[in-house]
Formats: sequence, C-alpha cells, structure tokens
Amino acid sequence: MSHPDQFLLAGVMGWPVMHSRSPMLHNYWFEQHKLAGRYLPLAIEPGKLGPALRSLAPLGFSGCNLTIPHKEKALEIVDEIAPTAKKMGAISCVTVRKDSTLLGSNNDGYGYIHALLDAFPGWKADAGPIVVIGSGGGARAVTMILSERGAKEIRLFNRTLTRSQTLQRDFGGPITALPWDERHNGLEGAALVVNTTSQGMVGQGNLDLKLDKLPKTAIVSDIVYIPKETPLLAAARARGNRTVNGLGMLLHQARPAWEAWFGISPKVTPEMRAMIEATL
Ligand SMILES: NC(=O)c1ccc[n+]([C@@H]2O[C@H](COP(=O)([O-])OP(=O)(O)OC[C@H]3O[C@@H](n4cnc5c(N)ncnc54)[C@H](OP(=O)(O)O)[C@@H]3O)[C@@H](O)[C@H]2O)c1
Repeated sequence: MSHPDQFLLAGVMGWPVMHSRSPMLHNYWFEQHKLAGRYLPLAIEPGKLGPALRSLAPLGFSGCNLTIPHKEKALEIVDEIAPTAKKMGAISCVTVRKDSTLLGSNNDGYGYIHALLDAFPGWKADAGPIVVIGSGGGARAVTMILSERGAKEIRLFNRTLTRSQTLQRDFGGPITALPWDERHNGLEGAALVVNTTSQGMVGQGNLDLKLDKLPKTAIVSDIVYIPKETPLLAAARARGNRTVNGLGMLLHQARPAWEAWFGISPKVTPEMRAMIEATL
C-alpha cells in the first residue's frame, strides 16, 4: 500500500511514556520505507484515555499502541475487541478503521513467540516442560501463545498464588499454577524458562531463582529488556544455557501493528536491534 498524499501518524499512549523505545523503532521503519510519517509518545493521564482514543480518527492517526496503565481500560472504550485481546483481557494496539471505528487487538504474545523463533528457528513449544515465572499481563501473553503453539506442560509460579490460579482458570490447557516456594525445584527437566515478572529490570530487585536443577539444554528467556541482559540471563549464560532477551518481544509485536495501520510488513533487522540496544 502506498501513501503518497498522507502524513502517516501513530503513537503510544502511556503514563509515563517518555521511557518507551517504541517511537525509536517505529520511526526507524518510517525512514526505512521512505514514508512521510511519525510515531509519537503520547502522555495520556489515567482518566483521559477515552477522549484520547476518540481523537485518533479526527486527527488522522492510523492507530496507536497502549502501555501502562491503559491496556485494560481500553477494553471499555474501543468499538470492537479482537479475540486474542478479549481472551487476554488487555489491548496493546488500537487500529482506526476506514469508518473511524476503533479495533483493539493484542500483539504481545505474537511478539514473544516471534522473538523466540527469530533466535531459535527450529524451536518447538512441545519440546518439553515450560516454566513461566509471574502471572501479570506479560505472563498472560506468554502463556496464551505457548499454549496455542502446542505446549504440553506449563508450570506457572507466581509470588501471589491466587493470581496464577486465576490465570490457570482463565486459560486452562497445559497450565498448572504451583506454589512460589517450589520454583527452584520446578526447573527440573524444563526445556524453556520465561521470566515475566518485573524482577531483574533496572531499579528493581533481582529474580530469586536458583538454576541448579535446570538442564543445560534449556533456553532461558526474559521479557524484561532494560537491561538487555538481566542478572537471570547472565547467570543462565554463565552455566551454558542459551538465552533470549526481552527486546525481541518489543520489536516483533510492532510488526502486526504496521500491517494493521499501514498495510506494510516491516522487518526486524540487526541494525534496528543494535540501534535500540545501544540505548538500553
Ligand atoms: N519485552 C516486552 O515487549 C514486554 C512486554 C510486556 C511486559 N514487559 C515487561 O515485563 C515486566 C512485567 O510486566 P507486566 O505487564 O506483566 O507487569 P504486571 O502485570 O504488573 O505483573 C508483574 C509481575 O511481577 C511479579 N512481581 C513483582 N514484584 C515481584 C517480586 N518482588 N518478587 C516476585 N515477583 C514479583 C508480580 O507478582 P505478584 O502477582 O505477586 O504481584 C507479577 O507476576 C515489566 O518489566 C515489563 O516492562 C516487557
């Protein structure tokens, strides 16, 4: 699709929002595709999401991404919710349709799985037990996509057991919520470990997870991307495990947004990744 007569607009609504790396990656694609357009950080206070989303169409925006604290609230505002977003209970991407109505979707799980497959193209979800740490929004995206991809066993550990039990109840399938104290032993025989908690992120504590029982063949991935190598990933790499950092999830979730907004399939390139990694 070409856009000769239009200045293309999209953005990310959050509060706060200035830390977001999304403008950098989307504006890289505008340059790559030689398109006149801009992706903006949109600082939207809680309580003002409704008017902000309703402004997208009159202002000529093709859509926007949503980040903390707007992902759940948007469910009440958009005109239609895509099935994945409905199941997840959160919207990460809003598309303005031709008739100015708003479609809410969620591309976080897509981002996670494509980052993993980008790093390890032959990877299969049914290769062995999967351990997921955490049960917040990120965990919902990761467990849903892993289940859809054929995971046979997902051991879910969260500090607050009731939250992981709710996730198990919502999604069912291969997911079992297990007590937090059992997380270290729960790594036995695992083929993949995913940290979806905020632990390991700059300014937060480190994730308390002893890797002794984890097979050396397992992949360890983190959805935290600041820093690019979390203490968990550093410890896993030091003992010989393969690792995937959280940046790929952020980069890949942006691809379906571009398809929806502009009818273009952009690529995640090594140059783009290096450009953003240099800022982490
Ligand atoms: N790479 C990406 O594209 C991407 C996408 C989404 C999120 N993320 C990152 O993933 C992280 C989580 O995001 P989220 O949206 O899932 O957050 P969230 O919904 O607030 O969930 C936070 C999770 O972290 C756990 N947690 C917090 N403090 C903890 C502690 N001291 N010890 C153990 N567990 C703790 C929480 O456990 P409780 O339930 O017990 O509170 C919960 O499971 C953030 O760092 C975010 O930036 C990255």
